[in-house]
Amino acid sequence: MKLWVAQHLNPRRYISTSFITPVGRHGGEICPFLTNQQGSARVPPNFAEGRSRPFQPMEDLFMSQGKFIVVSGGEGSGKTTLVHRLQTDFPGARYTREPGGTPYGEALRVPLLDRMYRPVPWAELFLFMSIRAQHVEEVIKPTLAAGRHVICDRYMQDTLAYQWYTRLGQRSPSQIMQLAEAAGFPQPDLWIYLDVDPEIGLRRRQQTGDMNRIDREKIEFHQHVREGFRDLFNYADYIHRGRLIDANQSPDDVYRAAHQVIDLLLT
Ligand SMILES: Nc1ncnc2c1ncn2[C@@H]1O[C@H](COP(=O)(O)OP(=O)(O)OP(=O)(O)O)[C@@H](O)[C@H]1O
Ligand SMILES: [Mg+2]
Repeated sequence: MKLWVAQHLNPRRYISTSFITPVGRHGGEICPFLTNQQGSARVPPNFAEGRSRPFQPMEDLFMSQGKFIVVSGGEGSGKTTLVHRLQTDFPGARYTREPGGTPYGEALRVPLLDRMYRPVPWAELFLFMSIRAQHVEEVIKPTLAAGRHVICDRYMQDTLAYQWYTRLGQRSPSQIMQLAEAAGFPQPDLWIYLDVDPEIGLRRRQQTGDMNRIDREKIEFHQHVREGFRDLFNYADYIHRGRLIDANQSPDDVYRAAHQVIDLLLT
């Protein structure tokens, strides 16, 4: 409250500390802690009346939001291979990955996937969410607000399948989705799920010789993850924006199928 009063009395500081972010950098969104659980803005009265409105360049007012595309799937399903190929076709988009995508996230990715540690399921879940919170604020939201598309290698859907459904045995995504909404995580405009038989995916992964802590889980774990991904298609939020691509086929076929759905979204 004290903080709000100080900012309220001094609109210049209020804006410069970017509690309300200028349109040019973050799409003029009210920062998450100034929003209630439903995501509607708790805007201080003087701001709502426009008396301390920050400077908004005219061209920014007409800038449209970029599209957010997520590529998900089990181990060795070909996510990274696909995302690399798409970079050539959509050079204006920003490519990023999870866990990671920021200096904070990339640093935490190392212990998160290191075989030396055995985090309990809730610890693993919250570390993924922490890395995502940083990624969303630092990379995803500002990029979309600047009108650029974002193509992300793994995101919230992967946490749902791996940590929520498989590790924690939860059946309904609603609680974790409420948390994601409260944290201001945007929903993808398109969710591409690369569906692969885990035995095939793990064989591909083993051939690269690069197996992390989660790759090394038993085959039953990976089969459960696949069920989790497939279940997500029945969840209301994903029925229309999800596309399943058979990733047992050749990399060229996967690429063509993905390219087609992305083209439909972007053109
Ligand atoms: N459709 C495919 N058919 C055969 N091999 C493939 C296919 N897609 C990718 N590969 C190969 O499988 C290996 C794993 O691919 P990639 O790293 O793209 O998978 P990933 O889904 O990103 O895996 P991870 O979940 O471990 O990050 C690579 O050696 C890649 O060349
Ligand atoms: Mg990968």
